[in-house]
Amino acid sequence: MEFDDVADDIERVVVTPEDIDRRLIEMARQLETDLSGETPLLIGVLTGAVTMMADFARHLRIPVTMDWMALSSYGNNTESSGQVVVIKDLTENVSGRHVVIVEDIIDSGNTLSWLLGHLENRGAASIKILTLLRKPDAMVVDVPVDYVGFDIPNDFVVGYGLDYAGRYRHLRGVGVLKPAVYGGEA
Ligand code: IMP
Ligand code: MG
Repeated sequence: MEFDDVADDIERVVVTPEDIDRRLIEMARQLETDLSGETPLLIGVLTGAVTMMADFARHLRIPVTMDWMALSSYGNNTESSGQVVVIKDLTENVSGRHVVIVEDIIDSGNTLSWLLGHLENRGAASIKILTLLRKPDAMVVDVPVDYVGFDIPNDFVVGYGLDYAGRYRHLRGVGVLKPAVYGGEA
């Protein structure tokens, strides 16, 4: 889906499909260099990271394996808490593996902070974190992020895997949702 198709719902464009493509290529070259010959296990958190994983992995010119987790965080609807429940666990054994967590967005950092501890406990040899987007002003837990595509303002965004009420994940770029769409002020 293109921005033109959702022109009534999007307040402004944050990242274009061209920006994303260019940045993913840069990040892929950098990760390849930093891994120095290791075959990493890429771990994606469902569902938001599906788009990022599919595009990023295809830019890589080294062998990788992939695995997925589905997580849910307790707490009220609008704020994530540090309490995370595993809905779908990994299939692969992470013990001794060089793990790269591939994320769509880091907001509070709560989910990622929990995931880091979880993978450390399971004996990962190393853990790198790669994300397309980060909201520095929203971070409440300090998570060491190795690769950031774009730092963005603390607005609610959709597209490129990110949803509102399950919608907009298939928008090619990332944009700020009009508050009117989710019942806020116009
Ligand atoms: P946190 O870092 O634990 O706060 O949670 C990050 C998760 O919240 C992401 O994986 C998204 O699923 C979701 N999220 C955070 N900010 C946004 C946004 O602006 N739009 C859509 N989803 C978001
Ligand atoms: Mg997510």
